Amino acid sequence: PASSVASRTAAGVGGPNRARIGARTLRTDRWWLPPLLTTLGLATFVIYATIRSFMRESYWVAEHHYLTPFYSPCLSDSCVPGSSHFGTPFGELPGFIPLGFLVLPFLLGFRLTCYYYRKAYYRSVWLSPPACAVAEPHARYTGETRLPLIIQNAHRYFFYVALVITLINTYDAILAFGGEAGFGVGLGNLVLLANVVLLWCYTLSCHSCRHAVGGRLKHFSKHPVRYWMWTQITKINDRHMMFAWITLGTLVLTDLYVWLVASGTITDLRFIN
Ligand code: FES
Repeated sequence: PASSVASRTAAGVGGPNRARIGARTLRTDRWWLPPLLTTLGLATFVIYATIRSFMRESYWVAEHHYLTPFYSPCLSDSCVPGSSHFGTPFGELPGFIPLGFLVLPFLLGFRLTCYYYRKAYYRSVWLSPPACAVAEPHARYTGETRLPLIIQNAHRYFFYVALVITLINTYDAILAFGGEAGFGVGLGNLVLLANVVLLWCYTLSCHSCRHAVGGRLKHFSKHPVRYWMWTQITKINDRHMMFAWITLGTLVLTDLYVWLVASGTITDLRFIN
């Protein structure tokens, strides 16, 4: 576009020390494609997860004990019998409160403050900047020093809660091997299992996890176990972005599978029993 960034703002790319370039960008490639795809991907997940969290239907397969991660742990009297693996300390919940109300804010907080997702939505949604060598529309930049973005610093605490939630999801996946007819293995078990394995990959490859395990050590040689763990986490940390996207996909697929089986739309493919 021919609009002059420099004339619109006196800061940022329009600041006195910046080159006077009239066009917003001189790039001629499709630089807008990655931010567009990222926004579409994130929006699809948010819309799906919101709809499913409020549905209160088809989240538990009684026959095979499959529980979708979006409703785990189910801790209220509103949960269908059998789906509450940790009891029901909460009474009936009004319809506008999701049954997974206790963990959903923490899961959301964990993902929202994740270093990778920050990069993704700062660029793609907030356009700050949308791509290399493309001027951003914002005149001021305060980083993560003020509200609300200063909350991003709470990521390490969300990480510890996420560890507990991943443990709970793992427990659910293990319990699912014992359905109404006793031990059995179906496609649903494999889906739940694959989901938790990948959730572990995402959670353990977290930058805060890497720091908690190996950060602030003055002598690696004096802490061989932590050093070994740190080297392993470093390897998967390299692929954190990949796990971030894969787990968004597996969470949706796992929930969708449980939804389809629980609603009777499809029957679970059984391998044993
Ligand atoms: Fe992504 Fe911690 S950096 S989950």
